[in-house]
Amino acid sequence: MKKKLFGVMLGAVLVLGACGGGNKTDNDQNAGGTDNGETSSVDAEKLVSTNCTTCHGGNLEGRGNAPALANIGSELSQDEIHDIVTNGQNGMPAFKGTLSDEEITAVAKYLADKK
Ligand code: HEC
Repeated sequence: MKKKLFGVMLGAVLVLGACGGGNKTDNDQNAGGTDNGETSSVDAEKLVSTNCTTCHGGNLEGRGNAPALANIGSELSQDEIHDIVTNGQNGMPAFKGTLSDEEITAVAKYLADKK
């Protein structure tokens, strides 16, 4: 008698679920971004609050030797403000080198509108 052993090897095919590449994290929320610098349009109000309010007061109400700027536009022209901010004056520091001329122009315009 012959025994025929048919060893049938059934390879267990394991399909590993390695196809999960669909991580969708499209949460591009730029809220509260504090980009300093590379902004195409100059934010004069932000520049003033960053560079000027330490001396001139948080509401530009004046502080110490620094006069109020809250309605400086009724006293000085945009050109005069531009000149003072660029070159400084007494205790007022010169901002050329710190701010670009474009930024100073924007700040001067912003303040000259305060009347
Ligand atoms: C380190 C303190 C300080 C900072 C920072 C500062 N200032 Fe002044 N600023 C002064 C002082 C002090 C004076 C008064 C100068 C004087 O007596 O001639 C002044 C004067 C001025 C004046 C003339 C006001 C007037 O009535 O004649 C303008 C305009 C002015 N600052 C704008 C700015 C702007 C804009 C910034 C920010 C870009 C700035 N200042 C930042 C201290 C400062």
